[in-house]
Amino acid sequence: MKTILVVNGENYWQEFLPNDFVVQKKIQTTEWILKNNKLYVIDQDGVCMPDKILWRVGAIKPSPKHKSALDIIQLSDVPCVNSAKVLIQGFDRLSMLQALHSCKLPVVPFNITTSSSQLKNIEMKFPFVVKAGNYHGGFGKVLVENEQKWQDIKDLLFITNDYITIEPYINYDKDIRYLAIGDKIWAMARKGKFWKANVETTDFVLIEPEEELAAQTRLLKDYLSADIIAVDVLEERDGQRYFVEYNDIPGLSGFPDEVRTTLANCLSTL
Ligand SMILES: Nc1ncnc2c1ncn2[C@@H]1O[C@H](COP(=O)(O)OP(=O)(O)O)[C@@H](O)[C@H]1O
Ligand SMILES: [Mg+2]
Repeated sequence: MKTILVVNGENYWQEFLPNDFVVQKKIQTTEWILKNNKLYVIDQDGVCMPDKILWRVGAIKPSPKHKSALDIIQLSDVPCVNSAKVLIQGFDRLSMLQALHSCKLPVVPFNITTSSSQLKNIEMKFPFVVKAGNYHGGFGKVLVENEQKWQDIKDLLFITNDYITIEPYINYDKDIRYLAIGDKIWAMARKGKFWKANVETTDFVLIEPEEELAAQTRLLKDYLSADIIAVDVLEERDGQRYFVEYNDIPGLSGFPDEVRTTLANCLSTL
């Protein structure tokens, strides 16, 4: 029986890993030690010496400590799903975008600056989307439709030390998420109350994966050597598609139980 440490995430993993001992801890309240090449993970419930790790840290505010924990996992050689290397590449939004770029996937065009003082040099035609820093779950993202709103947003962005990207607003017909685990692929179309499909989601349906997007998702998954990957794609009415991001710790809700058994299987076969 192996000890599997689940970091954050869903509380059902013991059910999907009946032959293992599942311990769950929160990244926000754990400390990590690597001593004599052995990994120890500590919180108020005690110490865990994991044989394997399932990293399910979702849309919380990323902190430098999360990155340190991933570096320590990588140094410890304790196998992790996704691997610590994959999670480190996806940790920051810019290195995530770099992977999409390297795979020559049709990424939504964007301008970047390291400082809000340079916003005037990267603005584009209205409407556009501003994304500040490295946040998930729709956080730090705003749609700017006109000069008046832009003025206010620029004043607000003055207070951030994060990098900022600006990209055209895609007036999409479909917001699609492709999820790949092992050699399986699922696809979902989502609708939100407003422009962000993943915030106040009002509707999501599983759809039949299409060959082109499935192949592009597989290409990225193979490039990264990931166990699990999701890509977010916006499709315009005329069929034009743009990749907005990939997520190496995607949420699984709304997908069938098969995704959970397939992910659990990735851990079992490590
Ligand atoms: N350039 C864009 N044009 C139109 N909608 C966008 C654009 N970028 C993001 N969105 C919407 O906002 C959602 C969240 O953006 P995303 O870049 O995936 O960040 P995250 O999910 O990490 O917060 C997308 O699923 C999409 O519905
Ligand atoms: Mg997204």
